[in-house]
Amino acid sequence: MTKRIKTVLITGGVKRIGLSIARLLHTNNYNIIITYNKSSKQAREILNELNKKSKDSCKIIKVDFSKIQNFSDFSENVLKYYGRLDVLINNASRFYPTKINQVNQKSWLDLIDTNLKSPLMLAKIFYPELKKKRGNIINIIDIHIDPPLKDHIIYNISKAGLLALTKTLAKDLAPQVRVNGVSPGAIMWPEADENKTQKKREILSRIALKKIGDPIDIAKAVMFLVEDGNYITGQNINVDGGRRLNM
Ligand SMILES: NC(=O)c1ccc[n+]([C@@H]2O[C@H](COP(=O)([O-])OP(=O)(O)OC[C@H]3O[C@@H](n4cnc5c(N)ncnc54)[C@H](OP(=O)(O)O)[C@@H]3O)[C@@H](O)[C@H]2O)c1
Repeated sequence: MTKRIKTVLITGGVKRIGLSIARLLHTNNYNIIITYNKSSKQAREILNELNKKSKDSCKIIKVDFSKIQNFSDFSENVLKYYGRLDVLINNASRFYPTKINQVNQKSWLDLIDTNLKSPLMLAKIFYPELKKKRGNIINIIDIHIDPPLKDHIIYNISKAGLLALTKTLAKDLAPQVRVNGVSPGAIMWPEADENKTQKKREILSRIALKKIGDPIDIAKAVMFLVEDGNYITGQNINVDGGRRLNM
């Protein structure tokens, strides 16, 4: 069996798209550190699943990125697990509408701190380690930046900011650290939209490939950037079945 050496941190990775990324990188021999916030049951399940496949190959760490006070303590804890970090994947995200009359300090801080400020702070605290390892940062963005998603003012700002952050970090952390984005189209319906059949039909009609994607499609794009994208930095790959052709 090949020894696992490289280590990845995936935020919000115990469910849905993040879980698929975690499983694919684990299959490709990475040690996996996953953050979770509310999903403790799923966190224990993935911890058991991956450690059963390969002893001591997965760690979980609970954190709420809208409340975290001390990123340095967080990074110390993360680095203690395997003594190194090669890849940071900023996947954790809050997603809900904020029409103009719903914009307030609470929703601003919740969405911006989770979706934008935390990826910046994590890049900052892990930069020295990623620099040593000639590592990677992957930000999971969204195709809905331009044109923006209606009635989601703060979410749109957070993800547009994340694209700007991706490009800025690619410049500032080069040449040692590559920084790229992966922007999903319709991959998994938001949990709140599960029963909205008409809305789903409308979205499907605008996707060139006429189907929603699978989390593994995002995981494969991440894997490509991390393992094979040696000459790629500052890019954002849209994985959307051609949805952007009909926006
Ligand atoms: N689903 C899609 O089709 C789609 C489309 C476009 C873009 N994306 C992007 O792709 C990524 C993954 O999508 P997804 O649908 O799988 O995401 P998701 O289920 O909406 O959220 C992923 C995880 O983020 C964590 N999270 C949320 N707020 C947090 C906080 N304050 N602190 C710590 N963790 C927090 C949650 O962890 P807990 O459950 O443990 O609380 C959640 O499991 C996201 O960045 C999303 O914006 C997804």
